[in-house]
Amino acid sequence: MTGQSHRGAVTAKNWIALLAIIVVASAIGIAFMLALNWFPEQGSNVAPMIDTFWDVLVIVSVPIFVAVTTMLLFSVWRWRQKPGEEDLDGPPIHGSTKLEVIWTIIPTIVIAALTTYAAILLVDIQAAPAKGTRVVNVNGVQFAWDFETETPAGPVKSGRLYLPINEPVKFNVRSKDVIHDFWVPAFRLKVDAVPGITTTYNLTPTKLGTFDVVCAELCGLGHAYMRQTVTVLTAERYATVMAGLARASGAKPPAGGAAADVAGEKLFVSGNPATGATACGACHALKAAGTTAATGPNLDEMLTKDDAAAIMEMIVDPNKEIVPGYSKGIMPANYATTLTKAELAALVKYIDQSVHGKG
Ligand code: CUA
Repeated sequence: MTGQSHRGAVTAKNWIALLAIIVVASAIGIAFMLALNWFPEQGSNVAPMIDTFWDVLVIVSVPIFVAVTTMLLFSVWRWRQKPGEEDLDGPPIHGSTKLEVIWTIIPTIVIAALTTYAAILLVDIQAAPAKGTRVVNVNGVQFAWDFETETPAGPVKSGRLYLPINEPVKFNVRSKDVIHDFWVPAFRLKVDAVPGITTTYNLTPTKLGTFDVVCAELCGLGHAYMRQTVTVLTAERYATVMAGLARASGAKPPAGGAAADVAGEKLFVSGNPATGATACGACHALKAAGTTAATGPNLDEMLTKDDAAAIMEMIVDPNKEIVPGYSKGIMPANYATTLTKAELAALVKYIDQSVHGKG
């Protein structure tokens, strides 16, 4: 020891002051963090559990952050170099077994406790769903989600996810190409879509409304546009919507007239998964189809002056002319090969009639 007074041990007075600062700053910090509105509205039974977990993490971690920062600043001030000490060596320091044991054991206990809590929470959330739980297959593909709801009458596909309120649902999440991540912030649901395996998530929607479905894994050029919606409906309304989608799924090939409308709407909403034709509605809003996605231009606004021939050209050669504010290469350029001539005709007719009104 060099014997200089300012290098001495921390006094009792120091400790009391430090403790007071840590307690007061922690209380302010926790109050502030808990007062902030971090998350979107709670849309599922899982959301309150996740949000409580977040609160616990805040309450545990704020005092640790405050204590470490306070001690760091105190040390910088207390043992700073004073004029005339530039050439002095620091005091020799030996390890302190006691301290090392303490600073190993405390974080171990804290981390183990939080990990246990998180693990129990995860098991609770993912507990095997009740028999009769609705199953929705979620498929990620660059750059859209498509949804397939299993029903007694067979699977019903849609480019927009519909769910009934207060009924448990199990998601089977898959990817057709690269890793995506199925994220519904309002549900506090987030699970990777990994090629070759099926990941699952169970929850019960508890709030009516339309919520964002987002891809949360960087998956290519169009990643930021891989956004769709989930609409939670009353049981009654849900049944109506699903019946409509099921009818569209079972439609015969287009032969003009009403059949072309139904087939065209089906192609618009669901694409043709068999050939890899992505649903228009996954990226475009169209009032008649009830789609609201904003990856590509809103068709009701964009196509007001375009006739059927122009619409056809935009579908088969999307990069020829790009609407200001949108990027080249986002819209698939393969519709000429993934859709048959009859399908393209039905689709164009449907879009044309939807935008311009039936005549
Ligand atoms: Cu799919 Cu990012």
